[in-house]
Amino acid sequence: MKKRQSPLSDHRGVRDLKRLRGLGKMLGIADPYFRSSAGVNGVRLNKEGRELINFSSYNYLGLAGDPRINAAAKEAIDCYSTSVSASRLVSGERAIHRELEAAIAKAYGVDDAVSFVSGHATNVSMLGYLFNQRDLIVHDWLAHNSIMEGIRLSGAKRLPFTHQNWDQLDQILTKHRKKSQNALIIVEGLYSMDGDIPDLKTVIEIKNRHNAILMVDEAHSFGVLGATGRGIAEQQGIDPDDVDIWMGTLSKSLASCGGYVAGSTDLIDNLRHWCPGFLFSVGMPPSSAAAALKALEIAQSETDRVTRLQSVSRYFLQKAQALGLDTSGAEGFGIVPVMIYDDRQAVELSNDLVAQGINTLPMMYPSVPQGTSRLRFFLSADHTEAMLDEALDRLVDTMRARKIKVA
Ligand SMILES: Cc1ncc(COP(=O)(O)O)c(C=O)c1O
Repeated sequence: MKKRQSPLSDHRGVRDLKRLRGLGKMLGIADPYFRSSAGVNGVRLNKEGRELINFSSYNYLGLAGDPRINAAAKEAIDCYSTSVSASRLVSGERAIHRELEAAIAKAYGVDDAVSFVSGHATNVSMLGYLFNQRDLIVHDWLAHNSIMEGIRLSGAKRLPFTHQNWDQLDQILTKHRKKSQNALIIVEGLYSMDGDIPDLKTVIEIKNRHNAILMVDEAHSFGVLGATGRGIAEQQGIDPDDVDIWMGTLSKSLASCGGYVAGSTDLIDNLRHWCPGFLFSVGMPPSSAAAALKALEIAQSETDRVTRLQSVSRYFLQKAQALGLDTSGAEGFGIVPVMIYDDRQAVELSNDLVAQGINTLPMMYPSVPQGTSRLRFFLSADHTEAMLDEALDRLVDTMRARKIKVA
């Protein structure tokens, strides 16, 4: 008997996938995504049996794979098992959760912190819970998807400003602030597709003038910015209390999985007791909490890691620019895009580079705005200058071979 077609098979995502796969097949372009790799996602990656120099990992400090972190995670499993089998509110609370949260709060210099099982879910649930239809949320138009989904869930009025355009942020608040109960400004500490950083002092001045609330998403900046990796506040000499909501993830520099919010006692107590994504979700697995805690301890005692990351990133950026590559507004901290602007060329270049032993992935719409596709290079403290030279030289040669403009 013929299987009945489900209405879900007509979902726009299914149709889009079929169209893209058909196009790839027609043009003979291999799909660069979901390729299986083995082992640790470090500066070398074993992908489909071949060892590549890797630029597709946000293992910024080289801590994922560190034996001390693996040991801490295993110890937590032996002590607590693989799951706390309940929400923290009821019987899921373990000492390791509070130890991690206290360490995060201390690193920020704020009252308290709370951890969630996913970084993405942290933004969705926290924004959806804290804000509502009477509020205004003003955000950089390159905001991460988790921020956009959280705003949507909140029902707040949403107004974007063009990337890093503080005059526009100011104008939006001047025009709309009075009509709303709360006004929230959201920026990211380091933009994950662009590698640039906001001028937080200016944002704080605007926030204060408009009696607004400020949230900074430090998914990519915590561990990466500042002399000891404590993020954008350390880098720019900001009083941590000038930011109302510090948000971050455990999946990047901290070699684990999950998200956190750090801030005042009132904010954190409120989230811990009422935020649905915390309250109605299982407590973070002890192994993830222990891994993040150990990673934070190591990051803070081995500050040469962040120094190396920053110098490697600067080297990569300067060399890319000297070779005539378009790195957009990248500032040389952990992330450098090489702008290609054309989807097909970006995919083909990525595939060519993988064939030559260099792993860098194409970023296209909807991860970035239409017509701004790029190859994204994540840097790590463990990259050597020789690795960077090889990647950039191969990229330039491949671009020239494909007649893609370099300078
Ligand atoms: C700015 C930003 N916020 C939140 C997240 C979600 O974090 P996670 O991947 O840990 O769920 C990401 C993920 O890359 C991100 O880039």
